[in-house]
Amino acid sequence: MKKRVLVTGGAGFLGSHLCERLLNEGADVICADNFFTGDKGNISHLLGNPYFELLRHDVTFPLYVEVDGIYNLACPASPVHYQFDPVQTTKTSVVGAVNMLGLAKRTKAKILQASTSEVYGDPEIHPQPESYKGNVNPIGIRACYDEGKRCAETLFFDYYRQHQVDIKVMRIFNTYGPRMNPNDGRVVSNFIVQALDGRDITIFGDGKQSRSFCYVDDLIDGMIRLMNSRDGFTGPVNVGNPIEFTMLELAEKIIRLTGSSSKIIFESLPQDDPLQRQPVIDLAKKELDWQPQVELEEGLKRTIGYFKSLI
Ligand SMILES: NC(=O)c1ccc[n+]([C@@H]2O[C@H](COP(=O)([O-])OP(=O)(O)OC[C@H]3O[C@@H](n4cnc5c(N)ncnc54)[C@H](O)[C@@H]3O)[C@@H](O)[C@H]2O)c1
Repeated sequence: MKKRVLVTGGAGFLGSHLCERLLNEGADVICADNFFTGDKGNISHLLGNPYFELLRHDVTFPLYVEVDGIYNLACPASPVHYQFDPVQTTKTSVVGAVNMLGLAKRTKAKILQASTSEVYGDPEIHPQPESYKGNVNPIGIRACYDEGKRCAETLFFDYYRQHQVDIKVMRIFNTYGPRMNPNDGRVVSNFIVQALDGRDITIFGDGKQSRSFCYVDDLIDGMIRLMNSRDGFTGPVNVGNPIEFTMLELAEKIIRLTGSSSKIIFESLPQDDPLQRQPVIDLAKKELDWQPQVELEEGLKRTIGYFKSLI
């Protein structure tokens, strides 16, 4: 019997890669998405597969399906989108988690939460291990996302302790790759689109703030390994690339790889933008036997190829 797996947010950037990988591994996949930031184009190639089912569904409402596993990815992930309707963002994280955990409880399905490095806020320690409790401004403009995701983690652990739901919590760090939304303001897609258009590349702040970037295939591999990890291993576990680059280095790399004539310009930093972010991945190495394989330069080449195909 094929395992029936629900992917919420399955028409988004990460969700579409996950649906594809699960189908390739022989699962029967239900993709639930309200298409707030997702795109039918991301999953159109899967629609002919008899083991792929697409539901237009908003996770803030209960969903009644029979499943063996749930990957809960539904939530806008980029500031431009999660700040568009901040109340809905918090509802998606919090009410969405309640609904999906309720479904997991009823069906006895294992459930994985796509949490985020944003739970660490603007970190006072660097790099960030899972034991770090975070530094989030609860009333700032990023809080709808950060606090929503923190509350979702709380709900996951309370369902685990109170109802013995089989949970896995993954803290995802910056991920990039084909099918990123070109208009969502995320740094990698922004820089690539600006470079391909020959426009100025905008860096917020002085460009010295660092980020680590994980290629999507590596991330999805970590996600599937976490779902299949040993019983009783709940996480939270950091999954991301620990190799850091500054925004300036990233912009220069993209200009070189695209052969663009774009210039770099600097603008003021948005409120609460964290200055640095880098995962400690010792736990993922130990428990999931996972570490990133795709180097930034190779991942950027594949991503640039995708954006070129859109133009
Ligand atoms: N990409 C990253 O770098 C990153 C980093 C940390 C965490 N994450 C998390 O991973 C998940 C997927 O992120 P992504 O980068 O693919 O973003 P995305 O915006 O491309 O995908 C999110 C998907 O969720 C859907 N969605 C939003 N609200 C919904 C709702 N109420 N009901 C049903 N569907 C809804 C969207 O339509 C979209 O298809 C998110 O939960 C995000 O917080 C991503």
